Amino acid sequence: MKLLGLFLVLTIFWGQGSSLSCTVCLVQGATFCTGNNVTCPPGRVCASTYTVNMEDGIKKNEFFGRSCVPENQCQGPGSFSTHNTTSKKGFSCCYTDNCTPPAPVLSSVNNTQNGHICPTCTEDGVDWCDAGRTMSCTGDETMCILQYTNMSGTISRDSVLRGCATPTICNIGNQSLITGGLSVQVQISCTGGGGGLHCGFCGHLLLGLISWIIVSIF
Ligand SMILES: *[C@@H]1O[C@H](CO)[C@@H](O)[C@H](O)[C@H]1NC(C)=O
Ligand SMILES: *[C@@H]1O[C@H](CO)[C@@H](O)[C@H](O)[C@H]1NC(C)=O
Ligand SMILES: *[C@@H]1O[C@H](CO)[C@@H](O)[C@H](O)[C@H]1NC(C)=O
Ligand SMILES: *[C@@H]1O[C@H](CO)[C@@H](O)[C@H](O)[C@H]1NC(C)=O
Ligand SMILES: *[C@@H]1O[C@H](CO)[C@@H](O)[C@H](O)[C@H]1NC(C)=O
Repeated sequence: MKLLGLFLVLTIFWGQGSSLSCTVCLVQGATFCTGNNVTCPPGRVCASTYTVNMEDGIKKNEFFGRSCVPENQCQGPGSFSTHNTTSKKGFSCCYTDNCTPPAPVLSSVNNTQNGHICPTCTEDGVDWCDAGRTMSCTGDETMCILQYTNMSGTISRDSVLRGCATPTICNIGNQSLITGGLSVQVQISCTGGGGGLHCGFCGHLLLGLISWIIVSIF
C-alpha cells in the first residue's frame, strides 16, 4: 500500500508539465460511464466522481462522471447538507493515459451531531441567503458552506445554498465547467462551524458537484 502510494506520488511529480489523456463522460442513474478521450491541461489527472443526492434521507438521484481534475481533488469522500438535503460525493483518480480510476467510495451515513451549527437556506436568483435558520451538523460535516452557482449560456440561472460540509468539499473550492454552450461557475466558501476559522474561497474544479447542479435543472 505504501509502495503504491509512493509510486502514485512519483508518477504525479513525473507527470507535472506533461499532459495526460483521460476519458470524459457524465451519466445519471449509473455508477460507470465511458466516453471520448481528451487531452487534459498540464498537471491534471484522470478522475471519477460519484454523487448521490438525498432529500429528507431518501436517495433522490445519482451521478457518475469522469474528467481531468487537479490532483488536490484526489481525496477521500465528502458530503454537504442543508436542513433537508444531503449530497454525498466519492472521488478517485488514476495517473496514466486513458486509465480507469477505481470505483469511488462514499462515506457511510452518520447522523450523530458533532456540535457544529451552521446557517442553512437555499434560494434562486441571488448570491446570498439568510433564512434566519440554523442546522446541527452531523458526522464529518464540521464546516459551514456557502455555495453559489451561476450558469449562463443555453441555461441561465443562479442559486445559492448554505449548510454543513466536510472539509473535503470545502477544499475543492471554486469550480468551472464550459461545455456545449453552457458555462457553469461554482463558488464555494467555508467557515468553521461555530468556530472562527475562515477557509475563504479555496480550490479548483470538480465535475461531480457541477453535475449535480446541472441535473437539478433538467
Ligand atoms: C479511450 O481509451 C480507452 C483505453 O485506451 C479505450 O479502451 C477506449 O476505446 C477509448 N475511447 C475512445 C472513444 O476512443
Ligand atoms: C427544503 O426546505 C426548503 C425551505 O424550507 C424548501 O423550500 C424546499 O422545498 C425543501 N426541499 C425539499 C427537497 O424538501
Ligand atoms: C459519527 O460522527 C460523530 C460526530 O462527529 C463521531 O464522533 C463518530 O465517531 C462518528 N461515527 C462513525 C462510525 O464514524
Ligand atoms: C453569471 O455569469 C455571467 C457570465 O460570467 C455574468 O454575465 C452574469 O452577470 C452572472 N450572473 C449573476 C447573477 O451574477
Ligand atoms: C473564488 O471566486 C471568488 C468570486 O469570484 C473570488 O473572489 C475568489 O478569489 C475565488 N477563489 C479562488 C481560490 O479562486
